[in-house]
Amino acid sequence: MGILLEKISKNYNGQAVLKNLNLEIVRGEFHVLLGPSGGGKTTTLSVIAGLIRQDRGSVFIGSRNVSRLSPEKRKIGFVFQDYALFPHLSVFDNVAYGLRVKKIKASKISVRVGHYLHKVGMEKERDKFPHELSGGQKQRVALIRALVTEPEVLLLDEPMSNLDALTRETIADELKSIQQEMGMTTVYVTHNQGEAVLLGDRVSVLNHGEIEQIESPDELFCHPKTEFVARFIGAKNILKARVIRINQHEAIAQVNNSGLAKPLKIRVKKYPIFEKGKEINLCIHPEKIILKREDKVVDGNLNQIRGKILDRRNNGRFVKARIAAGGMELHAAIPKNIFDFETNENVWVCFAPDTPHPLCGKRCRATETERRCLKG
Ligand SMILES: Nc1ncnc2c1ncn2[C@@H]1O[C@H](COP(=O)(O)OP(=O)(O)O)[C@@H](O)[C@H]1O
Ligand SMILES: [Mg+2]
Repeated sequence: MGILLEKISKNYNGQAVLKNLNLEIVRGEFHVLLGPSGGGKTTTLSVIAGLIRQDRGSVFIGSRNVSRLSPEKRKIGFVFQDYALFPHLSVFDNVAYGLRVKKIKASKISVRVGHYLHKVGMEKERDKFPHELSGGQKQRVALIRALVTEPEVLLLDEPMSNLDALTRETIADELKSIQQEMGMTTVYVTHNQGEAVLLGDRVSVLNHGEIEQIESPDELFCHPKTEFVARFIGAKNILKARVIRINQHEAIAQVNNSGLAKPLKIRVKKYPIFEKGKEINLCIHPEKIILKREDKVVDGNLNQIRGKILDRRNNGRFVKARIAAGGMELHAAIPKNIFDFETNENVWVCFAPDTPHPLCGKRCRATETERRCLKG
């Protein structure tokens, strides 16, 4: 069953917490609601679950308008950040709880609970109590307690935030494979970008009760539409600029980031949104930055800024370097096998005119969608 939120508004004490929110989640999708604390993620999830009633708008699960239904009638499973296990019940009884409420036969319950305990490798813990479990084990119990009733929709509110990084990754893998196997529509709330990439088929970024962008994780990370999304997903190298000249294929932009000792002119691919005098934000992916020794002549097609390497850090196949450049801080990610610079070394920070991508609200770089952007 898919989920449709239509024009949902919610106010608390006169303050709008959700603002005319529209969201369509397709059947079987793993959808991540990503955003900073206070953005309205829990409120959105609670509106879907029926734990909170919206002031305006409708909630559909499949073709059913569930706006006025109680949570029990919505056929959803809910996993909370703090596990919310019953402390006086064993693992088995915690998981069996929802089935007993539904008055399912004991023999069936035993088989079904056994099946789910096996799924998350918790058969041996069936008689333990919550206080005898690790955080990861508690969250596995909370997860299968939600799954055991085989809901059409699974909602999870920051379920990993109390877990260490390794456990988080393991459970994320388990959750993703269970979700793919069972195919329930899933909405997963987090403020963690890494989880969003790992888990989401699509990600919505929620800011102050409004969705700023809905996208596949790849698209989101390569083409953030707004400065908020760019900063939230940890985009580096945001240049605040003004278009000062437009040529046939390129534009000249003057970068005015705070801290710049003097204004900096760069050449940028011409985008249809550009107009002379227009203020734009440009974002350059760290992998698109090229570093050259200061005594080397730089290819005249590249933009170049004098800089100094502040520090460097190995990160998988890449070395990530922070560079002070004319009062700005820029970030480069250079393949390890070609990085041979030292901290404090003076360098040219170079980038091609087609690498800065405008945070323009449209997709601007992926070749298959480029035309849409170039149409303006
Ligand atoms: N029951 C409530 N009463 C008053 N304000 C609330 C209540 N629940 C949430 N809020 C406010 O709504 C905003 C969004 O909260 P929430 O949905 O919990 O955000 P998130 O889960 O993204 O951190 C916050 O400013 C929060 O203080
Ligand atoms: Mg929350």
